[in-house]
Amino acid sequence: MDVRVKLPNGVSMPQLGLGLSHRGGCGYNHDAVVYALKHCGVRLLDTAERYGNMAKLPAAIQESGVLPDEIFITTKLFPTNYTRVHTAFEDDRRQLNKDTVDLFLLHTPECGIGIGNKELRLQAWRELEMLYDNGQCRAIGVSNFMEKHLTQLLEECSIKPMANQCEFHPFQTQISLRKFCADEGIVFQGYSPLAKGAVLHNAIVKEMANRYNKTEAQVAVRWSLQHGYITIPKSTNPVRVKENYDVFDFELSNDDLEKLAKLHDGRHVSWDPTNVL
Ligand SMILES: NC(=O)c1ccc[n+]([C@@H]2O[C@H](COP(=O)([O-])OP(=O)(O)OC[C@H]3O[C@@H](n4cnc5c(N)ncnc54)[C@H](OP(=O)(O)O)[C@@H]3O)[C@@H](O)[C@H]2O)c1
Repeated sequence: MDVRVKLPNGVSMPQLGLGLSHRGGCGYNHDAVVYALKHCGVRLLDTAERYGNMAKLPAAIQESGVLPDEIFITTKLFPTNYTRVHTAFEDDRRQLNKDTVDLFLLHTPECGIGIGNKELRLQAWRELEMLYDNGQCRAIGVSNFMEKHLTQLLEECSIKPMANQCEFHPFQTQISLRKFCADEGIVFQGYSPLAKGAVLHNAIVKEMANRYNKTEAQVAVRWSLQHGYITIPKSTNPVRVKENYDVFDFELSNDDLEKLAKLHDGRHVSWDPTNVL
């Protein structure tokens, strides 16, 4: 199902996509990406310089038979490239074989080893603004930015980030950050919807999966979707890719949504940007 979310500039992107991070399972799996595009209707691929698989996507897209223009690709600039945005961006474009990048994000507020750097983030952001103004990106945004990082950026930017991609699952519900983004007109996007698999072992999630006759992963993906956020579960296994996408034929009740939200314990399974200055 092609359910979409609108970014503040009117660009629409699919709400449910496929995560492609290099971690977990066997990293990148060509067959799983082809299967997702060809048989599951996936139209959003979430990659990053860090994941090292951008150059593999054009072949997977070609093999799937889906027109490249129908596929929305998010990619992310790694902090080691915050001082060479233009060169890194050109390299990304070449690897993706795309003239225009759909959504380009600053991957994290953490610019150095353990320390943040407000000026460097702003400098990189200004370059993203330029790429956007030149029509080289359809949308620009950030990732892993907490309220303080967004506040600093908003004070000086010319274009507000259109999206903020952050960890979001029942153990990490990001209540205040989500409100901040909504108030500022920044589209919150979730990652690690399965908490890298941890959600699947939770007794409450298991009970719900039984009750809805769905799997634990489907309950977790559905929870993200029913909040209205973009979400990008990752699987390198075609059967699981299909399972994660087969979530449009049931609805969690409000009680169950709340029960899951109560599982929040503040853990981060990916980045923890809390202490980044
Ligand atoms: N912006 C950022 O800083 C950032 C950080 C983290 C993640 N992300 C993005 O978000 C995507 C998803 O997050 P994630 O990869 O951290 O974690 P995730 O999607 O929460 O979980 C992925 C893990 O769950 C397993 N899995 C997937 N579907 C399953 C199913 N139906 N049943 C059982 N196990 C299943 C996968 O193994 P198998 O592959 O073996 O199925 C993998 O080990 C990433 O790939 C990336 O694109 C972005």
